[in-house]
Amino acid sequence: METARSSVIVAIDGPSGTGKSSTSKAVAAKLGLSYLDTGAQYRAITWWMLTNGVDVGNPEEIATAAAKPVIVSGTDPAAPTITVDGEDASGPIRTQEVTSKVSAVSAVPEVRTLITALQRSIAAAATGGIVVEGRDIGTTVLPDADLKIFLTASPEARAARRSGEVKGSDLSATREALIKRDAADSGRKTSPLAKADDAVEVDTTELTLQQVIECVVTLVEGKRVAA
Ligand code: DC
Repeated sequence: METARSSVIVAIDGPSGTGKSSTSKAVAAKLGLSYLDTGAQYRAITWWMLTNGVDVGNPEEIATAAAKPVIVSGTDPAAPTITVDGEDASGPIRTQEVTSKVSAVSAVPEVRTLITALQRSIAAAATGGIVVEGRDIGTTVLPDADLKIFLTASPEARAARRSGEVKGSDLSATREALIKRDAADSGRKTSPLAKADDAVEVDTTELTLQQVIECVVTLVEGKRVAA
């Protein structure tokens, strides 16, 4: 009998450098699901703040400006897009400046409320199912997700992967920056980076990307059969 191709919502959380984005995109593409990179949305709002003269050291200023930018995410895993006020933001959101400021901006509760609502509306519109990756998807954004995955890896493995992605970057500086960002993301009051109680934890330290993808695909297929 044909496996039921029911719509499925998959939440993939974890710190940076665990292979979250590559895994989420590949799993979504393989299973014909939509894909949402929620980190890109926090990066986009941060980029807008930086280019519009908002003092990102001032949470009140951030809160006041939070509703101004219009952020639109395209959810095709083969070509995910992100625009801010109609402008392609996919390049500028990956700069060092944005990376170093995104934790401060994303810690502001007004920012999280708005972005969380946006994420829920995108997930609700994805009638064929969606893979949503982030830090608080399983705990806060989509607590009723059909499957929750929490990816981990040693700081050394994560730093090595990140510096491989960023040309000319220094391994120990990358490691320090990554640990600092994890601490900020895990320590904030509003929906911190955390593993949901019912999430499946996958330690990717010793796994290839292909192995992580296969592991997650198997878990999703298991849920679909059970559904
Ligand atoms: O996944 P990323 O590195 O692009 O995410 C950038 C930042 O966005 C991350 O340091 C914390 C924030 N973020 C968040 O607070 N909640 C999410 N669901 C996703 C990202």
